[in-house]
Amino acid sequence: MRIIKAQDYDDLSRKAANIIGAQIILNPTSVLGLATGGTPVGTYQNLIKGYQNGDLDFSGISTVNLDEYVGLSPSNDQSYRYFMDTQLFNHVNIAKERTSVPDGVASDMDLECKRYDALMEGLNGIDLQLLGLGMNGHIGFNEPADIFEKTTHVVELSEDTVNANARFFDNIEDVPRRAITIGIQSIMKAKKILLIVSGESKRQILDQVLNGPITPLVPASVLQLHPDLTVIMSV
Ligand code: F6R
Repeated sequence: MRIIKAQDYDDLSRKAANIIGAQIILNPTSVLGLATGGTPVGTYQNLIKGYQNGDLDFSGISTVNLDEYVGLSPSNDQSYRYFMDTQLFNHVNIAKERTSVPDGVASDMDLECKRYDALMEGLNGIDLQLLGLGMNGHIGFNEPADIFEKTTHVVELSEDTVNANARFFDNIEDVPRRAITIGIQSIMKAKKILLIVSGESKRQILDQVLNGPITPLVPASVLQLHPDLTVIMSV
C-alpha cells in the first residue's frame, strides 16, 4: 500500500490525474474503472487539461463506471451517466461506445447485473480503478453489510448514504433509494487501485479503512488486501 499525503484538494486532484495520466501514456488501450461523486471532479478537470495540452490521448481508452442510481435515465442530470459525460467524456477524445455505466433503467435488473459483469470480463478486467470513499466506508455502492458482495448487484442505499448524497439534489426525497453497483470482487480484481479521500470529515473512516479490521461492515477495509493500492488523502 502506498499512502500519499496531499496538501489540499487541488494537490490531491493533480496527483490523482498524474497517476491516471501515466497509466494512459504507458498503456494507451487501458481499461479505467471510474467513480462519480464530489471527490473525483478535480481529477477529471486535470485529465481534461492533460488532453487539451496534448499530453493525453483517450482514443484507445475504455472505461467502466462503478455504479448508477436505479430509476435514473442517462438524460437525468442526477444520473451518473450524465455526470460522466459532462464532467469528463464530453471534453476528451474518448469513444463514447467504449464508456460503460450500469443502466439504471434496465427493464430486468438481474439481467443488467449479469450483462455488466460479462462486459468487465470481456474487457479482461480493469487496469486502474479510481475509487472515492463513502462516509460509512462504502466503495462503489457496496454498503456496510454482513458479507462482501462479489458481483454486480442492486443495493438499498443506507440512510447515511442517502443523507450524504442529498447535497447533490434539491430535496432529500429526490435521492434514489436503490442503486446498481459492481461488486467487491470486481473492484479487487483491478490490477491497480487508486483511492482518493478528501476532507476532515473522512479522517476517522479512513483510519478504520487503512488500520482497522478487514470487515464487510467497513467495505473499503478489504482494500488492505490489494497488492497494488495507492491512497491519496487530504484529510
Ligand atoms: C461514486 C461512488 C461512491 C463515492 C463515495 C464518495 O461512483 O461509487 O462510492 O465515491 O460515495 O463520494 P464523494 O466523493 O461525493 O464524497
